[in-house]
Amino acid sequence: MKVAVLGGTGSIGIGLSLRLAISGYNVIVGSRSKDKAKEKAEEYKKILRSEGHEVKIDYAENEKAAEICDVAILAIPCEYIYSTAERLKEALNGKIVVSPAVPMRREGKTFFYNPPPEGSAAEKIASILKDSKVISAFHTIPAKKFADLNSEFVWDVPVCGDDSNAKTVIINVVNSIKGLRALDAGPLSSSRLVESLTPLLINVALRNDMHDLGVRFV
Ligand SMILES: NC(=O)c1ccc[n+]([C@@H]2O[C@H](COP(=O)([O-])OP(=O)(O)OC[C@H]3O[C@@H](n4cnc5c(N)ncnc54)[C@H](OP(=O)(O)O)[C@@H]3O)[C@@H](O)[C@H]2O)c1
Repeated sequence: MKVAVLGGTGSIGIGLSLRLAISGYNVIVGSRSKDKAKEKAEEYKKILRSEGHEVKIDYAENEKAAEICDVAILAIPCEYIYSTAERLKEALNGKIVVSPAVPMRREGKTFFYNPPPEGSAAEKIASILKDSKVISAFHTIPAKKFADLNSEFVWDVPVCGDDSNAKTVIINVVNSIKGLRALDAGPLSSSRLVESLTPLLINVALRNDMHDLGVRFV
């Protein structure tokens, strides 16, 4: 299965690209710039080779990556994710599209959930990508630790979506990554509950000298 990580050159994109390639998915690193995508894909292959993984990683401009993939993960900051979804709408028709987006605002040292009027980032994306199957996941994964292939973690990943087949595909994608356990967290409208966990994790980390917090349901 071809998984495009659009904005796969950024913080959360690194861990997703590396770890999904290890899982055996045909990963395409997407970027606004083909040169940047190529450079990052080479860098990721080097990291993987140094860890003993001889795997293929492809690269493409976001639009091309969206066209050729089966699943697209929108690893793009919230400020730009909606306009990117608009731009890639045609290319993403019929595809499974994953939103890890967490809209937040900051007041001094405190982060707050800052959803759009649609209720959550995922629902706003679904309102744009009417012909795609939008699923939300990966919101509570701390990017830095996730990118480090030598780090160990046990995190749960709540997955939300309205298309049960697409949700099952993404649950399998999540479960393919060592240390992650996917949990069905309900319809896409439940994304607002999951997205709001991330500012809480950041606020707790900041005040208690903790790092790289994730969630576990026990
Ligand atoms: N960081 C985390 O720990 C974390 C954890 C969970 C979820 N998330 C969510 O994951 C998403 C990505 O977060 P991130 O921290 O990985 O972001 P990021 O590193 O700041 O940016 C990711 C990529 O977005 C692309 N980008 C930047 N400006 C853009 C624009 N104007 N239009 C289109 N693409 C643009 C860039 O790729 P190119 O320059 O190559 O195009 C960049 O490498 C966000 O929605 C965030 O809420 C992040």
